[in-house]
Amino acid sequence: VSDGQAPGFVGRRPVLVTGGAGFIGCNIADRLAADGHDVLVYDALARAGVEANLDWLRRRHPRRVSAAIADVRDEMSVTAAAREASAVFHMAAQVAVTTSLVDPRDDFETNVRGALNLL
Ligand SMILES: NC(=O)c1ccc[n+]([C@@H]2O[C@H](COP(=O)([O-])OP(=O)(O)OC[C@H]3O[C@@H](n4cnc5c(N)ncnc54)[C@H](O)[C@@H]3O)[C@@H](O)[C@H]2O)c1
Repeated sequence: VSDGQAPGFVGRRPVLVTGGAGFIGCNIADRLAADGHDVLVYDALARAGVEANLDWLRRRHPRRVSAAIADVRDEMSVTAAAREASAVFHMAAQVAVTTSLVDPRDDFETNVRGALNLL
């Protein structure tokens, strides 16, 4: 999702990175912040240990990175974050196959409904 601004444009509206504390998301956020973008990390910290990634991002980019500790299943919250964003990278997901087998409904809610909430 993008507002059509030219790549590299540095504006006031942040780039939203859902799952921005995760493995891929934190590296996207790091690159965006290094390129001068303000970044809003939106992450429920559902995956154990990802707080360390968020701490790392905040240390590297104290003025560029902010965080919303929130769930993509929270439609109002994620819709509001997306509305304010100049672009969206959607990386939030429940990725463990084992967890998916134990509770496929929860998996669906996060990975399908969570994504639909951004549209
Ligand atoms: N890592 C890979 O090699 C790889 C390869 C191909 C595709 N992918 C896909 O890229 C995406 C991200 O993968 P990753 O490796 O960074 O996973 P990850 O588990 O490291 O990151 C996912 C992030 O989403 C967050 N999250 C989980 N449920 C949430 C919820 N309900 N609301 C908000 N945040 C939530 C987690 O806390 C975590 O920080 C996934 O869709 C994955 O399937 C990953």
